[in-house]
Amino acid sequence: ESTTVVVIGAGPAGLTVANLLRRCGIDCVVLERRARDHVEQRQRAGIVETRAVRMFHEWGLADQVFGGIPLSGFLEIRIAGESHLLSQDDGSEGPPARLCPQQVLVQNLLSTYVADGGDLRFEAADVSLHDLTGERATVRYRDPSGAARAIDCAFVAGCDGDHGVSRASIPDGVLTAYPFDHGIAWLTVLADAPPSVHPLMAVSPHGFAAHFARGPRASRFYLQCPPDDHPDAWPDDRVWSQLRARLGDPALVSGPITERELFQLRSIVHDPMDHGRLFLVGDAAHIVSPMGGKGMNLALYDAEVFAHAVSDFLHHNDDTGLRSYSPRCLRRVWNDQEFSHWLTQTLHDAGDHPLAGPFRHGLARARLDRLTTSPTAARAFAELMAGLA
Ligand code: APR
Repeated sequence: ESTTVVVIGAGPAGLTVANLLRRCGIDCVVLERRARDHVEQRQRAGIVETRAVRMFHEWGLADQVFGGIPLSGFLEIRIAGESHLLSQDDGSEGPPARLCPQQVLVQNLLSTYVADGGDLRFEAADVSLHDLTGERATVRYRDPSGAARAIDCAFVAGCDGDHGVSRASIPDGVLTAYPFDHGIAWLTVLADAPPSVHPLMAVSPHGFAAHFARGPRASRFYLQCPPDDHPDAWPDDRVWSQLRARLGDPALVSGPITERELFQLRSIVHDPMDHGRLFLVGDAAHIVSPMGGKGMNLALYDAEVFAHAVSDFLHHNDDTGLRSYSPRCLRRVWNDQEFSHWLTQTLHDAGDHPLAGPFRHGLARARLDRLTTSPTAARAFAELMAGLA
């Protein structure tokens, strides 16, 4: 069997690559390890930045991808109970950001691709990559019946996340990793409780907390906690009393908690993002801490750069896009890492980050003061949120 591009993984990165390639008339096969239900139900990140919204408009995919998804106009930052609204409007013309549960984006991308006749194979087991530096690459896997299959291709898009097989197939010593651990954990709580009006992030002496909508009736909350904490130490009572204290909202309406997890805030960049015929896209190449909502947006950016590069090569015999794929993507990756790191430090240090100390606390308060009083600082922030800086 043979195709032009094999896409490994059907998350936001893989499904965007697949949809854009089809729009360019380029054949591809998507191999996904999990079942369709699992992929469609996985809950994660939330805002599709303005830049990415406009990208889907330019590709003629906006109606399919964003049908029914609300606009995202403001962020609320609450400092010791006092509310500040930050506009996401950076002043540029065109469609604004969308507040988008990731599973809705994934469902919409998936059904668009399949409706368009796209080839997507779920429950592909034991995917392995071969001949990445040869004339053609080969991807082997086992189909759900257990039969061994092989597809040869011109390019492999490694869209299989941080723990996937793609990056692991690159020989040792080729990539350099730049990891960073923030020394902070978040308890994430999913609850059937009324959503916040705007995405809400709160700074308080009890620690950072956040409240995001997950559809019209559910909420996701985040609570800063020590890296060695455990979800069992957070019974319902403690979750709700800490949220009320940190969000400065004694009237916060509670509801049944459906999920409770702890995760560490960490970041990593792998450089370069390609090896021979393999191109890493999204989380396979970089993890950005969740503050600022850039993880999914970076995946969408990489996907577009890759699709253009393959199209230029196949349709115009121009390989500059392929050769500059990694530096172009990494430029944005570091830009967004910086934004996310800045926001993470600021919102934790301004409250009660045990490692921060009084000096960093003072710096963080000064940054928030500037952000909430200087229109120029607010505009620069909006530009970064929009993904246009
Ligand atoms: N073979 C095939 N598929 C695989 C394999 C494998 N060996 N390993 C992982 N996968 C699949 C996963 O099941 C998943 O569907 O690859 C997909 C990777 O998807 P994500 O982890 O969502 O990564 P990505 O598409 O890069 O999304 C980037 O969205 O989910 C957020 O936090 C994520 O912000 C990040 C962004």
